[in-house]
Amino acid sequence: MARSRQFIQLKTELPGPNSRALIARREASMPAGFGKSTQIAVRRAHGALVEDVDGNILLDFAGGIGALNVGHTPAEVVAAIKAQAEQLIHICALVATTEPHVALAEKLNSIVPISGPTKAMIASTGAEAVEQAVQIARAATGRPAVIAFEGAYHGRTLLTQTLTSKYALFKKGFGPFAPEVYRAPFPYLYRTAVGTDLSDAQKLELVWEAFERLLVAHIMPEHVAAVVIEPVQGEGGFIPAPKAFMRRLRETCTRHGIVLVVDEVQSGMGRTGRMFAIEHYDVEPDIITLAKSVGGGMPIAATVGRAELMDKVHLGGLGGTYSGNPVACAAALQAIALIERDNLCARAAHLGQLAGARLRQMQERYAIIGDVRGLGAMLALEFVADRQTRQPLSVERTWAIVQDVANHGVLAIRCGLYSNGLRFLFPLVITEAQLHEGLDVVEEAIARADAQR
Ligand SMILES: Cc1ncc(COP(=O)(O)O)c(C=O)c1O
Repeated sequence: MARSRQFIQLKTELPGPNSRALIARREASMPAGFGKSTQIAVRRAHGALVEDVDGNILLDFAGGIGALNVGHTPAEVVAAIKAQAEQLIHICALVATTEPHVALAEKLNSIVPISGPTKAMIASTGAEAVEQAVQIARAATGRPAVIAFEGAYHGRTLLTQTLTSKYALFKKGFGPFAPEVYRAPFPYLYRTAVGTDLSDAQKLELVWEAFERLLVAHIMPEHVAAVVIEPVQGEGGFIPAPKAFMRRLRETCTRHGIVLVVDEVQSGMGRTGRMFAIEHYDVEPDIITLAKSVGGGMPIAATVGRAELMDKVHLGGLGGTYSGNPVACAAALQAIALIERDNLCARAAHLGQLAGARLRQMQERYAIIGDVRGLGAMLALEFVADRQTRQPLSVERTWAIVQDVANHGVLAIRCGLYSNGLRFLFPLVITEAQLHEGLDVVEEAIARADAQR
């Protein structure tokens, strides 16, 4: 049985009997295609600590896949949800207007890194936010095409699944996909021209040439409504786009009247050390998509963009039953207030430095770690079977590492185009001692996996 530590407190083996029983019910009642990265069932959580249904206390390094930057159940968010729920749970913004909805739109307009007037369209999920962004870009430009990147993840609706890359895991059996989506390589330099002695700058040049070739060989720029990019790819493996690439993309979009959409569903709300990852670049997007940590755990999302674009959609073209739900908006206002009040952006930068240093130490010790990368507290390890050839570690072996980590008391999740990475999305309110304890667990699991090579 895994052992208790200062924060991780274990009463049973993991997964415990109650977790197993609940997961058996989950599997019997839900479709097989609905995956989960651990076999743990959770009862309650606070800050970075989670209590499972057997009374074990675990550390959370998955953070609701990036939805919990402010931590689990922060008192202010809980109080706002309770207060709003007692007054009004729902009315539908297509019927009547509520103050929390308007206040959230105003707040988002005031914090997005886009100069000039902006407008915010609130939705419920990240996929919806991205889908809205594409609809707005098409309505504003009168053009059909959208360019997305290899390794991208934008959601599971038909259009966002089309924009999403990584075929076998997300797209198998679901075609035909939406038309007019074109794919460009992402500057994933660790896997560009492997085996050559090209410098990163030369590799970047190759990737950029491929982007320019796309605009000649596959689609004319005059037909492109939008380029949709994650400044730091999330599911794709926590790969920050190099600055030079983003700048060239911005210049190209400006030159051809293409709407630049940055998808910050995962990288936004303080995670990278700035409120938005795009603030690390000297680049302004036309539209930014947000979700996850906007709501402190409540389902809420937003498409925020230059007002003259946002206003191009005809009356009736936007909105849904739950757009701007007042309980979700009240939670979001408090979650954003906490990020600002507690300076969680600076905290993310600090935690990212601490964790990054530990991960680089691990890389020196264990050959199974091919790459350590990320931005701020958006960090990942990429595992390899062979450092020289960079052959990705198998999905099964990476999966086994994630299970080993979870079964020793740290909820974790993989990532990467080859599903061979481990990503870190701990709440930004985690203490340094908790962070180190969780990293100890991660390191021990990696040492065990490395020893099996
Ligand atoms: C960058 C990015 N865009 C969009 C989405 C989709 O968000 P949702 O799952 O809320 O639809 C995700 C989800 O992980 C994401 O990481």
